[in-house]
This record gives sequence, C-alpha cells and structure tokens, in this order.
Amino acid sequence: MSKTETGLIVRPPHPVFSGVGRVGFRAGLVASFSILSAVILLLMVLLPAASCGYGAGGDEIVVGEFGSLTGDTADFGKVTHNGIELAIEEINASGGVKGKRLRLKTEDDQSRAEEAATVVTKLINQDKVIALLGEVASSRSLAAAPKAQDAKVPMISPSSTNPAVTLKGDYIFRVCFLDDFQGHCIARFAHDTLGTGRAAILRDIRNDYSVGLANFFAEEFQRRGGAVVSDQSYSAGDADFKAQLTAIRSSNPDVIMIPGYYNDVGQIAIQARDLGITVPLIGGDGWESPNLLAIGGKALEGCYYSNHFDPSSLEPVVANFVKKYSEKYGQAPGALAALGYDATKLLADAMNRAPELTGPAIRDQLAGTKGYPGVSGTITMDQNRNPVKPLVVLQIKDGKISLRETIPPS
Ligand code: PHE
Repeated sequence: MSKTETGLIVRPPHPVFSGVGRVGFRAGLVASFSILSAVILLLMVLLPAASCGYGAGGDEIVVGEFGSLTGDTADFGKVTHNGIELAIEEINASGGVKGKRLRLKTEDDQSRAEEAATVVTKLINQDKVIALLGEVASSRSLAAAPKAQDAKVPMISPSSTNPAVTLKGDYIFRVCFLDDFQGHCIARFAHDTLGTGRAAILRDIRNDYSVGLANFFAEEFQRRGGAVVSDQSYSAGDADFKAQLTAIRSSNPDVIMIPGYYNDVGQIAIQARDLGITVPLIGGDGWESPNLLAIGGKALEGCYYSNHFDPSSLEPVVANFVKKYSEKYGQAPGALAALGYDATKLLADAMNRAPELTGPAIRDQLAGTKGYPGVSGTITMDQNRNPVKPLVVLQIKDGKISLRETIPPS
C-alpha cells in the first residue's frame, strides 16, 4: 500500500484480479459491482419480511415497549427502558427465544395517556409486535390496555399498581403489587410504626393511581382508629400548592400522605417546609426516581415512601442484577429498572414455554406463571393476572434513601 502526495491511500489491485491486466481488472470490478447490486436487491426484498418479526421466515421477534421517555415523568420511562434493554441483551446473549433474537421497538408516549393509546395502536398495527411492555403510570396503562386486549396482544405493565389495569381484559398482566395492598401498608406504617393518629391527604385528582392510593390509604388508616383530618387535591404539573398546604396546616395533622409522582412531590415538600410544616410526608411508589432528592432536597428529610425493590438486598438474584445494571449504566437500579427487567424476562420465559408464538399461546403461559424468580420478588399470577409480592418502606435520612422495613404480602 502506498501513499500519494495528497495523502490518499491507493490500494493495489484486488488479489483475485491481480495479474489479469487492466482490462481484466475492470471487468472484475464490473462483475463485483453487479454481485453487490444483486445482494442489495436481495436484502431489499428480504428485510421488510424480517421486520415483520415473528411472521413467516423472520428470524427476529419484535417486542413493543411504550413509555414516557419525555414529558412530566420522563424518569419513569427512561429508567424502565434501561431495565428492559438489559434484559433483552441478556436474553439474546443466551440464545434468544426459540432460537430467534428479540428486537425491541420502543415508542415514547410523552407522559400522556392519549398518546399511549396512539403509540400502542401503531406498535400493534404497523410494527406487528408479538407483545407489549408498558406502561409505568396507571392512567397510561389504562388508556392503552383496551387496544392490546382488542388485538389479542399480551401486555405486561411493569409497574402500574391501580387495580383496574388488569381488569381491562385477559391479555393484560402486571409484575408488581396492587394499590389496595400498597395503600394499606402505608396506612399501617403511618399508624402503627410512626404512631400517627391524624393524617392529611394531598392527592393528584386526575391521576387514577393517586386517587386510588389515597382512598385505600384513608380506608385502612381509619380502620386502625386514625382520622383523616384534611383531604386536598391538585393537578399534575401545578406550580403552586400553597392554598392546599395552608388548609392542611390548619387541620393540624401528624403526617401528610402525598400519593403523587416524584416531580410534584418534590415541589410540594419544598412549599410545605416554606409554610412551616414540619411533620413527615409519606407516599407510595410514585415518589421513585433517581431525581427525587435532586428536586425535593432537604425538604424530604425525615419522609418515607413505599416501593417494590430494595437494591441493598443480599439475595443472589438481586445482587447479580444490581452488579450487571450498575456496570452498564453507572448507577444502581431502583424499582422501575427492576420491574422493567422482570417484565421482559418473564415475557421471554412465557414465550419459550408457549407451543407457538401467537398472542393467545403466550397469554396462556403468562397466566400460568408460578414461582418465577424475579429480581423484584417471586411472581405467581393470580386469576386476575396480578402477582402477590412483598413491599418495602424506604426512609429518607441524611440525604440518603434506605430500607426501613419489608412488609410481606397479605
Ligand atoms: N405505580 C405507579 C402507577 O401505577 C407507577 C410507578 C411505579 C411509579 C413504580 C414509580 C415506581 O401509576
């Protein structure tokens, strides 16, 4: 190989053509170009067939993911995506499903329920996905589920906890616990462990998750002899919570239950402290985000929330997941990543067991899931396609989030 004065590398003739002279070399070039165009043509014919995924002749299985990669609760979608992506990599590295690779097709619903229904319709009709992973937020799973159900495409929500989600139909599953359990656990913790008797509630009024969790909490807190002294509401994205917090302050609560999402919770905490409210704030899994403390800061000190996963667990299956995830993303996984990972692995497991790769066959295997060893706990589906799992209560202390207690399933 020689260098010309302009610095370009001039390659010697291809060894196959060397010695056949100038004319032969040119003929060889023409021949190799026509082979190349034939290959390109062939690929153009074959590729669309391959992108039909599990369809005849395809060597890939296309799985759809819909999540909030942008918008108000972008952390939910992004972190869940990391867990899903890691699972897909591991599944493919160990031979895929029935010898075929999984290909993930991800759609961003911008943290909006209507958009969730739209992108799921697209994943089903255009991308012909075999199954769907999503969503985190219950309102968005509720909006998308009827589309999956009508098309008989199994859908697994990693983390939507509102009871109504899986009641949308027999193709709708989840791998997390439900809000009746979660609400009751938070009430029990507030009443029995923290010893509070007067609770105020500040709920996100247009969010199915928030309204449901507030009600389940209130029911159990009162059943245990506590009183709900104020019940206020806001709408996601509000900037000013002072009116509601002032009303709450004058009701003199021992604890304030905020069943909302991390972004609003952070702001509410700051404004509550500005108003001189010092009692603990408590909440559910919606507080979970790598940015909770970045938003709420010191205002969240001394607060508690319930969650699905404890990354400090010494269980081998958890420790192994935490190690692999941390290596890949440079950050320990939280509940969202763990549940995204479990939903994906559980789906692959069911697909491997299914006699054929069709929606109904995969649905039947998912419904029959028993004792699946997830990183977020063991998963056995009940007759409504919900698992029964333990819950953890986390505490925020000295600017850190750590395990306070584990509550077994009831
Ligand atoms: N459970 C919440 C809902 O149903 C979503 C969520 C799960 C958020 C886990 C954070 C962590 O809306």
